[in-house]
Amino acid sequence: MPETGTSRTSPSRGSCAAPDAAPPSRPPSPQEVRGQWTLAPGVAHLNHGSFGAVPRKVRLAQELLRREVDENPMRFFRRELPGRLERARLACAGFVGAEPDSLVFMASVMAGVSTVLASITLRPGDDVVVTEHVYGAARIAVDAACRRSGATVRVAHFGLEDQDADRADAVVAAVTQRTRLVVLEQVTSSTALVLPVQDIVRRLRPRGVQILLDGAHAVAATALSVSGLEVDYWVGSLHKWLCAPPGGALLAVAKRHRDRVVPLVATWNANDLFPGSFGSMGTVDPTSFLAAPEAIDLFTGWGWEWTREHNRRLITSGADAVAEAFGTASRRPIRPFDCMRLVALPGRPRMDLRSGKLLQDRIAEQLGIELSVVSWRGHGWVRLSAQIYNTSADFARLADSADQIAGWVRRTGG
Ligand SMILES: Cc1ncc(COP(=O)(O)O)c(C=O)c1O
Repeated sequence: MPETGTSRTSPSRGSCAAPDAAPPSRPPSPQEVRGQWTLAPGVAHLNHGSFGAVPRKVRLAQELLRREVDENPMRFFRRELPGRLERARLACAGFVGAEPDSLVFMASVMAGVSTVLASITLRPGDDVVVTEHVYGAARIAVDAACRRSGATVRVAHFGLEDQDADRADAVVAAVTQRTRLVVLEQVTSSTALVLPVQDIVRRLRPRGVQILLDGAHAVAATALSVSGLEVDYWVGSLHKWLCAPPGGALLAVAKRHRDRVVPLVATWNANDLFPGSFGSMGTVDPTSFLAAPEAIDLFTGWGWEWTREHNRRLITSGADAVAEAFGTASRRPIRPFDCMRLVALPGRPRMDLRSGKLLQDRIAEQLGIELSVVSWRGHGWVRLSAQIYNTSADFARLADSADQIAGWVRRTGG
């Protein structure tokens, strides 16, 4: 699987050397890792999965790009940008294993989801299948598309402790003769599960059902081959596990759909053929896209296997320690993600989204621990992340706060 395809030179010059130009990787020292992030000390940052965190080297590359824009906007936007965007796009395509002609930049994953939904003609009686683990904003977008067209949303149900085969069965069983699209995550957001995508795709392809695969969390966290997934549409985030600046995401479209998929905002290049049709977004800040290869480059230098193994080990030991302290170690999701994990809150309290967010804010403000509190089937869990800047001390801090959190949960239900 391609893990390279990136430049060893500054993205401010917008270059993109061949993958074999990269020197061998070298795992960083703890000091080198710490030095790359400007995260506030004194806070345990256990929620990388939501917004990521940008390393210094990547931010610097972005700042240099912005300086170039300011020095001569005409030169940058008119003469430099098309070539640089193209090189960054190709670097990203190489990195995620997507066919170069299939891939375009998006400002966010939800922009990609919305672009796909807008390209599909839904009619009254049609349906769109999602799972009960669907990312909340994606559910809002699917609901809106169905409302506009008179289609319905069908939801596949499966639990945290179900096996892969049962999860795949649940999705396949939700599909009907009128299903136009299945929206599926590679890694679910609030429940941090890896879904059996290959099995589901293998079973649905003969039925001609289109699949939109949301790989927001898959980019960089796993060795990806987007073209090998054989789905109709794929979206992914650059700012999460790749640590590119916020404002960059990817959309890949299978060849058979490319003439139908057009930008939501029609502007200069919109009449070109895909992917050129997405080549202009108007006068927006393009530096998140252009700095993304710098993030690929940074982690490639450290080694992807080293990075992934670090996160896998840390989330496993860290989440286990927290679960022991919370007294909820017996509840373990099956097939958890390698970088994020759910741990049930002490006493398995009932909790809705709103009370969950109140508890989350309280933990952040009073304990200095950033995490995500999740409501799953009416009960409260914490979702923890491990990125290479995290250490076991971050998880120990949460474990040491178990009694205080248990007390809050007992008194208020969150
Ligand atoms: C699974 C999943 N899909 C989509 C998104 C939305 O990404 P964006 O904020 O880039 O639209 C997220 C963000 O957390 C996510 O976890």
